[in-house]
Amino acid sequence: MKVFHTVSGLRDDLNNDRQQGLRVGFVPTMGNLHEGHLALIKQARESNDVVVCSIFVNALQFGLNEDWDKYPRTYQSDCDKLRESGCDYLFHPDDIEMYPNGLDTQSRVICPTMTDVLCGASRPGHFEGVTTVVSKLFNIVQPDEAIFGIKDYQQLAVIRRMAEDLCMPVQISSAPIHREPDGLAMSSRNVYITEDERPHVTVLKDCLEWIAEQVKSGNKDFSGLELQAKQRIMDAGFGIDYISVSNSKTLDLAADDDLDITILGAMFTEAARLIDNLSIVLE
Ligand code: PAF
Repeated sequence: MKVFHTVSGLRDDLNNDRQQGLRVGFVPTMGNLHEGHLALIKQARESNDVVVCSIFVNALQFGLNEDWDKYPRTYQSDCDKLRESGCDYLFHPDDIEMYPNGLDTQSRVICPTMTDVLCGASRPGHFEGVTTVVSKLFNIVQPDEAIFGIKDYQQLAVIRRMAEDLCMPVQISSAPIHREPDGLAMSSRNVYITEDERPHVTVLKDCLEWIAEQVKSGNKDFSGLELQAKQRIMDAGFGIDYISVSNSKTLDLAADDDLDITILGAMFTEAARLIDNLSIVLE
């Protein structure tokens, strides 16, 4: 695996590959890689000739009181995992390389409306940071395909919309949520969960599954279902950000006649904010 810290270095190699007609797959990450990320690399490997992964903890997508400074940075073990998983190029820029003109005056990419709800409502500016850095990364790597985990469902939906709206010549693909044996969705932020909390955090996934079953059996009282699930999560000792039964594409609150539905949730432990989701298609 070749490691690049500069845009020009990576571009030189990728230009050569493209001239040879090779197809480029891309997996953007913020590092602290787990099995979920490695599955994205494996998926990229299957449908592309060259696989690029980026590791960049993007300050632009963290709020002032969020965990940018303590976000787990595990560069050496990430490199080992990427080598083993068959990644060809790692792009690992520093802040100056990505934002040479500083953050305050950086041009931004804004995807309105669908970034104001769900995670966007409690993390103002977060998705603007994501769409901006992902656009930059797309311009740097110019991949044929980019792969994102379904775990960050809203991020995936926003990036799909951005690519469609801005005619970006990249195929956006998704990969299933990777779960621990008890069902907890894998996340770099799971390291913040305490030992005492750990047996109980699956309540989020349990609630999403319960709502899915209710909706599949014809219950359309979405707000009632959301309220009951929130209560169950609070009874388990956690804080609630949101539980929402949404239209899978637009992320608007689901309407009675919607067939593609995604149930999304976010809850707070002492030191972590955990998210999960579950999509269903009604007949
Ligand atoms: O999902 C992530 O790890 C990040 O939001 C991403 C897509 C790498 C952009 O910084």
